[in-house]
Amino acid sequence: MTDLTLQRVDTDYQFENVMTGDVLPDLDFLWRRMSEATVATVAQQPPGKVLDVGSGASKELFRLADLGWETYAVDPSNHMLGVSQLIGERTDAKVTLVRAIGERLPFADGSLDVVACQAALDHFADRYAFIREAARVVKPSGRVVISLNNFEGLACKLGRPLHPLAKASRLHHCAEWPCWQIPPDHNFKGDWRLVQQLGGPWLTLERAYGISLMCMFYGWGHLLRRLPRGLAQRLLRLSDRIAYARPAWSDVIVSVWRPVARQGRDPS
Ligand SMILES: C[S@@+](CC[C@H](N)C(=O)[O-])C[C@H]1O[C@@H](n2cnc3c(N)ncnc32)[C@H](O)[C@@H]1O
Repeated sequence: MTDLTLQRVDTDYQFENVMTGDVLPDLDFLWRRMSEATVATVAQQPPGKVLDVGSGASKELFRLADLGWETYAVDPSNHMLGVSQLIGERTDAKVTLVRAIGERLPFADGSLDVVACQAALDHFADRYAFIREAARVVKPSGRVVISLNNFEGLACKLGRPLHPLAKASRLHHCAEWPCWQIPPDHNFKGDWRLVQQLGGPWLTLERAYGISLMCMFYGWGHLLRRLPRGLAQRLLRLSDRIAYARPAWSDVIVSVWRPVARQGRDPS
């Protein structure tokens, strides 16, 4: 186990921290799409070694293991590693669980084909320490795949000024946790501007795309629930296609990175 003592590291993340209870169709779609997108983006490379950092319940790794990947999960939370272990005991897929933090990865230089980080980077104490580490442990031919909530997407941009109106109206119940409000367990605000600069001197942005549009915007999820299921799904898929081409507007930004070539590294 590596050092977990970096200041402000959350070593006690719990499953219940993820919103549970009544999940509306827009949020359900976002979670499913994000998970599918992480798996599909990693699987664009031929199977090799993949590490998911801030892996939570490691759902994506179990799917990748089924596709032939050698899978490693890093998370500082004993609770979340325990959840992953329980899931692992019920499947044939093997995921190696490691208690560590993204800022100090206990892996050798250039030892992994893909490093993934889904919906977790904004929980890290030092995002640039993670980026540096991801660039170190990934092979020169490898990729780093990061999915990050966008708190300046269309839903947030429109939702902020409309909040007083939503609160005063009968939409109040939808405004209890407005989409633009950054949860207390996030250490910074993710958005498109931040993503564009995220690689620093260590990673080069290869491409980025968006997932989902208007998730948790006042009334949107309740409206979708009232519509016939087929129509609601068509609307969600249509808005997702718009988000794909417009990461700045989307609810989640997926970015794919290559490590910057360093002297003395074998380019294979
Ligand atoms: C919102 S959950 C996301 C879990 C999973 N990736 C998913 O998409 O369902 C954030 C995860 O990041 C982990 N985490 C928090 N700080 C971390 C750090 N410094 N390094 C690595 N993981 C961290 C938490 O323990 C938690 O499991």
